[in-house]
Amino acid sequence: MAEETLPPTLQNVLDQKSLKWIFCGGKGGVGKTTTSCSLAIQLASCRESVLLISTDPAHNLSDAFGQKFSKEATLVNGFPNLYAMEIDPTSSIQEMIEQSDQQGGAMGAMMQDLAFAIPGVDEAMGFAEIMKHVKSMQYSVIVFDTAPTGHTLRFLSFPSVLEKALGKISALSGRFGPMLQQMSTMMGAPAGGQEDMFAKLESMRAVITEVNTQFKDPEKTTFVCVCISEFLSLYETERLVQELTTYEIDTHNIVVNQLLFPAKDSNCTHCSVRYKMQQKYLNEAHELYDDFFHIVRLPLLTDEVRGPEKLKQFSKMLVEPFVPDSEK
Ligand SMILES: Nc1ncnc2c1ncn2[C@@H]1O[C@H](COP(=O)(O)OP(=O)(O)OP(=O)(O)O)[C@@H](O)[C@H]1O
Ligand SMILES: [Mg+2]
Repeated sequence: MAEETLPPTLQNVLDQKSLKWIFCGGKGGVGKTTTSCSLAIQLASCRESVLLISTDPAHNLSDAFGQKFSKEATLVNGFPNLYAMEIDPTSSIQEMIEQSDQQGGAMGAMMQDLAFAIPGVDEAMGFAEIMKHVKSMQYSVIVFDTAPTGHTLRFLSFPSVLEKALGKISALSGRFGPMLQQMSTMMGAPAGGQEDMFAKLESMRAVITEVNTQFKDPEKTTFVCVCISEFLSLYETERLVQELTTYEIDTHNIVVNQLLFPAKDSNCTHCSVRYKMQQKYLNEAHELYDDFFHIVRLPLLTDEVRGPEKLKQFSKMLVEPFVPDSEK
């Protein structure tokens, strides 16, 4: 049985050159950012160019690398081909409303209506905008540091959200179009506002539908689950795996982070009790996932994993399995 388990590393992700989209996700604080940064660093040494994107509104790529990133892809210091960007999925509609306000206002009001009428439309449009931009940049592979579980897979509902928005705009244009047109012309705005808006929404829907198709293709997309060896975290991981399966998104790697390995001569009871608890859940994880998943163990370091050098060091453990002293 032991020989049959899959290697306990993420080497399989580095080897699968067809991969275009890699998601790292899991519960809050377990190490998603650390794992996605580390994986991106490893990918940078075997793929032509790598883009790391944070979609978590509480951005932490900047903190992890100690470098300020923005919504434009920026080269990460110390790497020739690793870029990072931090995006706020909800700011796009706000920008559209502001732009439209400058042009006369009617369209802005309509967008505001739309945002109220169809929950998630602002997020969907933000995401579409980003994906359109990212697709045009031609990176070999894109790594997502996602928001904590729960929001992780929201983007899968975006095509239908945008379709609803299109329907609504279409109806509104039919009823109020001529009046809006007249009003905006009177106020000096350029003609054709709704058509522009309609065309924009339509192109966003097309982009989202296309990327969602790619997300369901295991040749192009995989999801790396990150967890810690505790009951709640494993429970969340199982939920995540089930959800991914329902949505037909490939997942075959689980990173178990922050494992404690007290030294042999340690007399810290707190450490040994926690160690036993973690080993219990780690064994459960093996029982549950060994057949289909690579299970990667990462030790809890005494220091935070911050800055490019520490991340580089840490990232090696994704490919060379960490062996605790007690098992040497
Ligand atoms: N194995 C580890 N050893 C020591 N520190 C770690 C380890 N993994 C992560 N950390 C530290 O723990 C903190 C949380 O990790 P990280 O930011 O990667 O988690 P996250 O899942 O992205 O959190 P959030 O849900 O808040 O985005 C960071 O300060 C990080 O440096
Ligand atoms: Mg994070």
